[in-house]
Amino acid sequence: MVKSTIEETRVSNEQAIKTYRPDARISDIDALIVKDFSVYYETEAGTVKACDNVSLTLKQGERFALVGESGSGKTTLAMGLMRLTRPPGHIAKGSVKLNGRDVTKLSDDEMRKTRLSELALVPQGAMNSLNPVMRIEQQIMDGIIDHLDERDSRPSAQELDEIVKDLLNRVGLRPQVARLYPHELSGGMKQRVAMAIGISLKPNLIIADEPTSALDVVVQRQIMQTLGRLQEGLDASIMLVGHDMGLVAQFADTIGVMYAGRMVEVGPVYEVFSNPKHTYTQLLIQSLPSLKEKKELVGIPGLPPKLIDLPPGCVFSPRCPKPTEECKKGKIEMGLIEVSPGHLVDKCCVNCGQN
Ligand SMILES: Nc1ncnc2c1ncn2[C@@H]1O[C@H](COP(=O)(O)OP(=O)(O)OP(=O)(O)O)[C@@H](O)[C@H]1O
Ligand code: SF4
Ligand SMILES: [Mg+2]
Repeated sequence: MVKSTIEETRVSNEQAIKTYRPDARISDIDALIVKDFSVYYETEAGTVKACDNVSLTLKQGERFALVGESGSGKTTLAMGLMRLTRPPGHIAKGSVKLNGRDVTKLSDDEMRKTRLSELALVPQGAMNSLNPVMRIEQQIMDGIIDHLDERDSRPSAQELDEIVKDLLNRVGLRPQVARLYPHELSGGMKQRVAMAIGISLKPNLIIADEPTSALDVVVQRQIMQTLGRLQEGLDASIMLVGHDMGLVAQFADTIGVMYAGRMVEVGPVYEVFSNPKHTYTQLLIQSLPSLKEKKELVGIPGLPPKLIDLPPGCVFSPRCPKPTEECKKGKIEMGLIEVSPGHLVDKCCVNCGQN
């Protein structure tokens, strides 16, 4: 009985991907394996465990979405994977295997080369991170030139010009944009430039941290389509960071839900949306507005906990509508367990018997 349910789940998720993303090419090769990865900030008030014991795997060609409320640790995880964490933050433990190499063990110089060429980040607020006094072409070229090896011959000015125009074309911008300054571009255009810089060295993993926040819904949709096209064109994997569950459901193949610095549920998008197992995920999905039935909007009561001072028992218990005494006070064991193929849930919420 259990077996047939698991088989059915697998079939329905594959069907869902085939329906929504018929050109998806997801290989069996693991592009990224993150294990027990923790990034902490050391502050005067104590240690902020903003990303704690996170584990996840991404296949080559897969679209993974990372969701969670503001402050749940999504950017901390993304920056940690890129090894761009700045003091007082530091990688406390764990491994990040990218194409078989543990990036936490690379020298600074090796890591610098790995960024853009294997692993690229379109950072949160990317459109504001462009240098205001530099033309767009120079900003795109800088990353390319910086990654040239001593043995590489420097491309000619004309070659660089063609590379820049090709990149602009791939993100849907006219070649004339190369000569402009950031203040001459709209928010959506700046976001596209950030994507052009991100893909300039054909990475096989792109991390896009909230690429559509602060953009109107029409531009959001166009940016997501461009991002999807770029990812498919490069046969890359993508980690999309965002709050918008609706957008994520349309774009991603798999989803990871973060709460208070921990991953509480991971799995195929279809499976997690149709059969969420963690109470927090259930509430996130319930809070989505529906066009089919008019109902009162439901939010998640309360506020996320201070990461410096986590509650005893389950970290979500102060906001959970159905905590048991064990959940609230018990020494609950936390960590992900597999409930169906590829669907992992924090064991505290599986073992408490509430779901
Ligand atoms: N430099 C820092 N020093 C101390 N704490 C920090 C620092 N940067 C982030 N934090 C804390 O780490 C936690 C996670 O922050 P992070 O920016 O990763 O969240 P997020 O999920 O990306 O949020 P958002 O959706 O708003 O972008 C927050 O509680 C934040 O206050
Ligand atoms: S473990 Fe208990 S308190 Fe925590 S989310 Fe699940 S049901 Fe709620
Ligand atoms: Mg963030």
